[in-house]
Amino acid sequence: MSRDKTIDIESLLHKDEVHRRVYTDPAIFDLEMDRLWHRTWIYVGHESQVKNPGDYFTTTIGRQPVILVRHKDGEIHVLYNRCAHKGAQLVGDNAGCVKAFRCCYHGWRFDTDGALLTIPLEGGYDNTNFCRDNPDINVKKVPRYDSYRGFVFASLSVEGPDLKTWLGGVASSIDNMVDRAPDGELEITGGVLRYTHDSNWKFFVENLNDLMHAIVTHQSSSQTARIVAKRLMDDKDAVPWAVEIFSPFTNRYSFFEEMGLHAFDYGHSYSGGKVSIHSAYSDIPGYVDALEAAYGKEKTLDIFSENRHNTIFYPSATIKGPIQTMRVVKPISVDKTVIESWTFRLKGAPEAMTQRSILYCTLINSSANLVGPDDYESYHRLQHGLASQANDWVSMHRHLGKETVDESGAIEAEGTNDIVFRNQFKAWKQYLTAEDA
Ligand SMILES: [Fe+2]
Repeated sequence: MSRDKTIDIESLLHKDEVHRRVYTDPAIFDLEMDRLWHRTWIYVGHESQVKNPGDYFTTTIGRQPVILVRHKDGEIHVLYNRCAHKGAQLVGDNAGCVKAFRCCYHGWRFDTDGALLTIPLEGGYDNTNFCRDNPDINVKKVPRYDSYRGFVFASLSVEGPDLKTWLGGVASSIDNMVDRAPDGELEITGGVLRYTHDSNWKFFVENLNDLMHAIVTHQSSSQTARIVAKRLMDDKDAVPWAVEIFSPFTNRYSFFEEMGLHAFDYGHSYSGGKVSIHSAYSDIPGYVDALEAAYGKEKTLDIFSENRHNTIFYPSATIKGPIQTMRVVKPISVDKTVIESWTFRLKGAPEAMTQRSILYCTLINSSANLVGPDDYESYHRLQHGLASQANDWVSMHRHLGKETVDESGAIEAEGTNDIVFRNQFKAWKQYLTAEDA
């Protein structure tokens, strides 16, 4: 699709502020879908969701419905979810296992790599160009897909950096999360928690590395947990996991400042490093032993020395490595976004580790949680506040120019620097102003 020439992207961004239209204008949302979501690497799913041949999982890349599927040779494919015949969605449910896909409309059957198997009354296509020599008779594969340590990403563009290059400095966040499994593998556990936000997708993606908001926004949940715990617990009582999980959201500003931020090309970033809101959780018996048995003491210490908070794989996915949860971003329209929350099991770790991750996801990320609605209230007010004509510009001024950049281009800053937002919009502008492919 050609670019809407009436949108002057350059005019919507200053080095330290962004125009409110980027969050409210449906035409800009359309351009984001075409030029960002349909071009860059988008998270599709985890290999553990398609363990066996024939296992499939359906999702979207921007506006495109796709199928993640494991073929009988063990290879994983990402197919467009569209029958090659009349175009009906080939798969109608979320997940399952098949020997072959059969379209519900005219019964065309396709192998799990998209290749046509059978057509009812195939002779009716004799002497037409819609025959087996025509590649369009197969279900089309998405142009590029690849996996990094179990995390499958796909791109609708034939051009662009390979996945490893694109991940750059945030690949190490996946490494640290996977290395926390004594058996060296993660597995999705339980189902998905889906949570619709009546707000633009960028509010969520920005907020995940916004360390200025937690102490204020999460006062109602985190501070309440602290007060209740103080009232009900004796000093000798073990601190419940829920209190360990809630409390750090209202640590002092200095704590969040010291957590730090790291930002990279393509809009990626992570908050926290040596310390984060996840670094003071209690030990779970048997876990360190299992990790040391697998990797030795030195590597185990090395793994625990990184305590990153949220890592953002811009624009579609975010992980919390130390607690093994993931949130996936699904923009629906300029003011509607679905956030999916997933929990991972560390293979080879005590089951209590999984239980704590599930508790975290339930308390912090689920649609019935206590912390997410704090954020949602802010996103909702942002969406409505930016409809106001009072001021066209949204601030990204904080600690402007105080970040450091190393020779590889990696950026490091104190935790409350707005650099993550400036870095996201730098990438956003590059994608949205790139020439048509
Ligand atoms: Fe928050």
